[in-house]
Amino acid sequence: MKHETLGFQTDTLPPPLASSRKKLIEVALPLDAINAASAREKSIRHGHPSTLHLWWARRPLAAARAVIFAQMVDDPSASPELFPTEADQEKERERLFRLIEELVKWENTTNEKVLEQPGTEIRKSWRRTCADNADHPRAAELFDPDKLPAFHDPFAGGGALPLEAQRLGLEAHASDLNPVAVLINKAMIEIPPKFAGQSPVNPESREERSLIEREWKGAQGLAEDVRYYGQWMRDEAERRIGHLYPQVEITEEMVRERPDLERYKGRKLTVIAWLWARTVRSPNPAFADVEVPLASTFMLSTKKGKEAYVEPVIEGRGYRFVVKVGTPADAEAAKAGTSAGKRQAFRCLMSGVPVPYGHIRSEGKMGRIETRLMAIVAEGDRGRVYLSPTSEHEAVANKVNPVWKPEVALPNNPRDFKTPNYGLPTYADLFTSRQLVALTTFSDLVAEVMERVEQDAANTDLSDDRPLCDGGASETAYAEAVGVYLAFALSKLADRGSTICTWFTERDSTRNTFARQSIPMTWDYAELNMLLGGTGSFLGAVQWTAESIDGVGAGCGSSVGAGTQIDAAHQSLTIDKIISTDPPYYDNIGYADLSDFFYVWLRRSLRSTFPDLFATMAVPKAEELVATAYRHGNKEKAESFFLSGMTEAMRRLAEQAHPGFPVSIYYAFKQSETKGETGTVSTGWETFLAAVIQSGFSISGTWPMRTELSNRMIGAGSNALASSIVLVCRQRPTDAPMATRREFVAALRAELPTALAHLQSGNIAPVDLAQAAIGPGMAVFTRYAKVLDAEGNPVSVREALALINQMLDEVLAEQEGDFDPDSRWALAWFEQQGFDEGEYGVAETLSKAKNTSIAGIVEGGILASSAGKVRLLRPDELADDWDPTTDARLTVWEAVHHLIRALETGGEPEAARVVVRLGASADIARELAYRLYTICERKRRAAEALSYNSLVQSWPEISDLARKERQEVPLEQGGLFGDGATESAT
Ligand SMILES: C[S@@+](CC[C@H](N)C(=O)[O-])C[C@H]1O[C@@H](n2cnc3c(N)ncnc32)[C@H](O)[C@@H]1O
Repeated sequence: MKHETLGFQTDTLPPPLASSRKKLIEVALPLDAINAASAREKSIRHGHPSTLHLWWARRPLAAARAVIFAQMVDDPSASPELFPTEADQEKERERLFRLIEELVKWENTTNEKVLEQPGTEIRKSWRRTCADNADHPRAAELFDPDKLPAFHDPFAGGGALPLEAQRLGLEAHASDLNPVAVLINKAMIEIPPKFAGQSPVNPESREERSLIEREWKGAQGLAEDVRYYGQWMRDEAERRIGHLYPQVEITEEMVRERPDLERYKGRKLTVIAWLWARTVRSPNPAFADVEVPLASTFMLSTKKGKEAYVEPVIEGRGYRFVVKVGTPADAEAAKAGTSAGKRQAFRCLMSGVPVPYGHIRSEGKMGRIETRLMAIVAEGDRGRVYLSPTSEHEAVANKVNPVWKPEVALPNNPRDFKTPNYGLPTYADLFTSRQLVALTTFSDLVAEVMERVEQDAANTDLSDDRPLCDGGASETAYAEAVGVYLAFALSKLADRGSTICTWFTERDSTRNTFARQSIPMTWDYAELNMLLGGTGSFLGAVQWTAESIDGVGAGCGSSVGAGTQIDAAHQSLTIDKIISTDPPYYDNIGYADLSDFFYVWLRRSLRSTFPDLFATMAVPKAEELVATAYRHGNKEKAESFFLSGMTEAMRRLAEQAHPGFPVSIYYAFKQSETKGETGTVSTGWETFLAAVIQSGFSISGTWPMRTELSNRMIGAGSNALASSIVLVCRQRPTDAPMATRREFVAALRAELPTALAHLQSGNIAPVDLAQAAIGPGMAVFTRYAKVLDAEGNPVSVREALALINQMLDEVLAEQEGDFDPDSRWALAWFEQQGFDEGEYGVAETLSKAKNTSIAGIVEGGILASSAGKVRLLRPDELADDWDPTTDARLTVWEAVHHLIRALETGGEPEAARVVVRLGASADIARELAYRLYTICERKRRAAEALSYNSLVQSWPEISDLARKERQEVPLEQGGLFGDGATESAT
């Protein structure tokens, strides 16, 4: 592998100290808006850059864009000369928030006007930084007010972060160890700007007047050429291998069995897919010569009104499959196919005896898993037509003889790769012969199409004479660029065209190979006709690719980009660059293993274009920073490899990054890792934090990003935990002091309340509060070179996290002082009892401590008391006619629960009406909701936790509606729960 360093010869350069103002990301972020936009983005498919090529665990563009922006603009508190008071600073922060809220919207990704504003803000802050550092010894290189520093992501993967940096106007550098990822990044940020604004070279576009005269923005010309030459490839493939995809003739005999086929009698229908079942010899000695099917289902379509299924017909010592339409008589049996439940795997179609996994494995290892055609899916006049298999169609498939196969072995990674266990140990084994021939044909055509493009590009104004791999933009480079995107279409074809793709009975279509981050074993599968149009075909893949080139290239403007293969633990590309990065998360995803599936085809198609990138037979694995036990021998070795490699990679970032900006690092977080009452406990998370701290970073912020949520979950006010955390880091000064554990705790106690108040005023969701609080907590911890306990041993990251959580609880408890006595009583009672009944005597004693009385609380309308028991009223039991403006004993408790009731019954408008009546006192209700959420979370009261979380999350919308309503119906009102709002018990 070539370690490229783009001109830097030195290993590392210690950056001179620089004066850097606090950035917005170190103080506040409009998390709700970022999370909502990120989650929404998941449902956008056509034209989304992520559809250019599959990559696992991509970051949403909205989050990437917001983070890089907030990392580059100053927080208003850093400019007291401009914003002297806290109110001024808050106002300015609000303005920046509004800007981010617009910036993260998918609709605005290509809106030049919207993208202009952040650029202006970034440059404003940059000029201030340059002025602050005018006396810096390297000011000319590092702080040129007319030139923003470049951006680098050393773990670039699918390229979301570099793409967004480029969109914000930065020169973008993406590096990754994995050649497939490097190629994706080249296709995202390197190639489009080279050919931006250029018209297509294909003869059709160059002849048609309307096309000659139109303006080709961004990468539109390139996308148009990809469409044109993709169509050429398909037509050429049809000529070469069309005979492998025969039509199916509807004979009279077929119509006799299936009267619904009458309209097609004598016609030939195009086949969309062939559905196959794998077979093994029956374990029953009486049928040992019969290959019995392993069919996970006999249903073909479960779409209402279009049901179809396979009926196996046993004849003598054999069987045949017949396809029927309508609902089967025994629906359960048809749904089950020949499967016999998890333990027993399958049952023998002939005799009913179990076919256990052990039998299938040993048959597989002896090369005795075969296939039988179960059904044919053809194109009818109004949708799909399911037909019984024919021997001719089976014979065509069986006679195909591939001339080339990807003989590369699948990794010995039993967690993610299941097929080797069943005698399918290579990538070649994942395809049928016909699929291999088709993919090889298209791969040959990538090379041929490049020659054609180069010829057609002659006489265009592409200057330069270097190929793509040397950074050129010549005719050859252009042809190679088109080849890269068409090879990406081939990747899509492979993803939809392997024997891992099963038939989706609810949708009448197939699943893709990587429906998950693994390659499972499949028993029946669908082989699509790759020469048609639509999903799963080459033309469909070309269409998707071309659309995403438009999406990628639209924002590239004039900023250059580069994708390079470099090991993050040994690189110096970061020197003086702005860094945002998303390293692999412990052992979660084996990128190198998974990507071999694509690598083998990309290598075949593009090896001459990128000889260095595709030098090895398979993706390089040894340096991959993933803690996989199977690769390193055992868990401990894997952990220590990960820790030392990640520390090395982080150290480079800490030492080399541009000193004017913090570094942002994403870390994926799994909900299942949260254990115990003290908060987060996770080897992956702690190992990673330890690596970051050991590398010389101090942490100045942590932001939970709920990027994996679906819209539905957001809509339902879900309590799902953040799926990743963004750590904001700065280099720790070399003279950082030491501290004792006691000093650390004292500093936490002094600083956390303000930090928490800040997070709450930014309306952070209660569910995210504990994660976000790690930021200011860790900022205290990592400010010191070391924190030592009483015995002089360093306090571990795990212990520091536990102390931060403990302090969070204390600070939230202290906020209780702001509540009225009845609410303080209710809170304490709720902590013990929830909404369940409890002893009157206990309640009475507690009321004394809280300076109130049970009788008074009952009268206040939040408590029921009878027969020696008391019980807090649930929101749906509260009085219907409640009016806070006339309530003589109004409490925050009541306000919160009436708000929840209003929100749950009438939505945000109804809750807003309650807020209007509560007046200025409504805000304190939000504080109580935070507190109640933390109690419910600790006590594992999920349903109530959801209500409190939803109330806080809906707060901005509710306040907005309340403001509007107030303007319509002005209500003279101050706070309602003053100290005197409730009587005191005597
Ligand atoms: C979480 S992914 C990045 C995903 C990316 N942010 C996106 O949105 O698609 C982590 C990346 O780190 C890469 N990686 C693993 N070990 C590496 C190493 N030693 N050097 C450089 N990259 C490495 C993997 O190939 C993978 O692409």
